[in-house]
Amino acid sequence: MRLNKYIADSGITSRRKAEQLITEGRISINGQIVTNLAVDIDPARDSVEYDGEKIRLKKKLYFLLNKPKGYITSTSDEKNRRTVIELINTREKIFPVGRLDYNTTGVLLLSNDGDFSNLLLHPKKNIKRIYKAILDHDISDEHIATFRKGIFIDNRRSVFTDINVSPKNKKAVTVTVVEGRNHFVKNMFSALGYTVIQLERISFAGFTCEDLQQGQYRKLDEREVQNFLLNNAKI
Ligand code: URA
Repeated sequence: MRLNKYIADSGITSRRKAEQLITEGRISINGQIVTNLAVDIDPARDSVEYDGEKIRLKKKLYFLLNKPKGYITSTSDEKNRRTVIELINTREKIFPVGRLDYNTTGVLLLSNDGDFSNLLLHPKKNIKRIYKAILDHDISDEHIATFRKGIFIDNRRSVFTDINVSPKNKKAVTVTVVEGRNHFVKNMFSALGYTVIQLERISFAGFTCEDLQQGQYRKLDEREVQNFLLNNAKI
């Protein structure tokens, strides 16, 4: 097994960052520091140490949470607010894949697999996120067209790749985006004078919260994760 994969699969970091640890001379095999990225190890026989501490392979975990309001998407918070990690019953160290705002609800993935997370968040992968927003006032047809064409945010052209308005309520708008900049949906609407009153992510990379109430979660099974990985070949 490749050394960087072994380090990533021990839950310490992603494969890319593992390579950095190797080149920095922080990894040893059977007591010998290695800086060669091409090294293979035998997990059954070799002992791998990170800064002198033995590391072991960890089971990979994947959770799908329907995030409720009032939780911060982080592993800890300096203001002592509740974190999404508190909603998941596991002793393993997991982290959220990307971020939802404190009062945003809906699909949030959590895992201890850094490669899975990097793949989902990689800008070149164009992973789809679908949000349902409730605005402070009705959206105009002209602005719908503008959002499709794109506007400039932080000096970058930014688009909703799809936008649909409820026929009965022009404040209820469903948008598709393929990027994970913080507050992206709110900033897009705000640029044209709308305030987002409510925001729910209804899909992320095709994962949805079907059958999950807010605050409930389930484990993703191996098949779901493998399907995702197969359809989104490595970075
Ligand atoms: N865009 C936002 O503005 N907020 C979120 O929570 C997610 C996307």
